Amino acid sequence: MVVLVTGSSGQLGQSLQKIAANHPQIIFHFYSSSELDITDLAQCETVFSAVKPSYCINAAAYTAVDKAESEPAKAFAVNVTGPENLAKVCREFGTLLIHISTDFVFDGNADKPYTEEDLPNPTGVYGKTKLEGEKAIAAIWDKHFIVRTSWVYSDFGNNFRKTMLRLASEKTSLSVVNDQFGTPTNALDLAEALITMIRSGKNTFGIYNFSNEGQCSWYDFANKIFEINKIKIDLQPIPTTHYPTPAKRPYFSVLDKSKIKKTFGIEISNWETSLKNK
Ligand SMILES: NC(=O)c1ccc[n+]([C@@H]2O[C@H](COP(=O)([O-])OP(=O)(O)OC[C@H]3O[C@@H](n4cnc5c(N)ncnc54)[C@H](OP(=O)(O)O)[C@@H]3O)[C@@H](O)[C@H]2O)c1
Repeated sequence: MVVLVTGSSGQLGQSLQKIAANHPQIIFHFYSSSELDITDLAQCETVFSAVKPSYCINAAAYTAVDKAESEPAKAFAVNVTGPENLAKVCREFGTLLIHISTDFVFDGNADKPYTEEDLPNPTGVYGKTKLEGEKAIAAIWDKHFIVRTSWVYSDFGNNFRKTMLRLASEKTSLSVVNDQFGTPTNALDLAEALITMIRSGKNTFGIYNFSNEGQCSWYDFANKIFEINKIKIDLQPIPTTHYPTPAKRPYFSVLDKSKIKKTFGIEISNWETSLKNK
């Protein structure tokens, strides 16, 4: 089994590299943005014809949610044209495509966890381009899995956990939003789930949700990060209105994971347990 991973320097890409050794039956080919630019169709074709992957995990994305508001063309290129190119080459080479999407495809006005059937309604450029990317794939190549995830953190790249730990080393007090609810996702858990999907050999294509279990606010998440790392800091809960950002965030973006658990027999840890054990 040959698996090609794009965006291999990102959080998910590096997490996949970390767990690759646990799966010796899979031959992984990792490509960073400098080795494979997914917005370049000719480059995608060259790499695919050399690697001939049975699966492609697209871990590449434009993930700067606020910056996307002022760089919509860049976000579109990576989040829409990129997946479109990958779907085309996957169709050409008979490769199964696993694409990662986001809770930001939803507006966050729900009062229960989002299922794969719930209607997306993104409110910002990032969410809109991610949804367009999903649609582009679906229109081109039916052998795809789209895995929507949320609040990803890891030891790699930029994420909320690392930002909190850095800020705690610079400040004595912090204010964090307490009225947006979602679920953190340990990138290593997401990486393992993707490999489980691949190793299952199932052809149950379509959209799946994956995050850790449970739900919390960003304030709860920060609190737990400091508790686990035994950091004493004056942490204040604030409403979103006190922390304006260029991109609007969903107030509630908890994902229902029933489908992925049932289809692939995946057991998912609670977010607090996974954060502690990471
Ligand atoms: N982070 C989150 O909280 C979150 C939440 C929900 C969903 N997701 C989704 O989860 C997936 C993985 O996210 P992540 O947190 O691992 O993202 P990340 O850390 O930002 O990594 C994204 C990677 O994509 C690469 N990339 C950018 N443009 C590219 C291009 N044109 N061609 C090839 N590679 C390119 C980047 O390379 P450079 O480093 O060279 O720019 C980076 O290594 C994404 O689809 C994201 O939308 C993330």
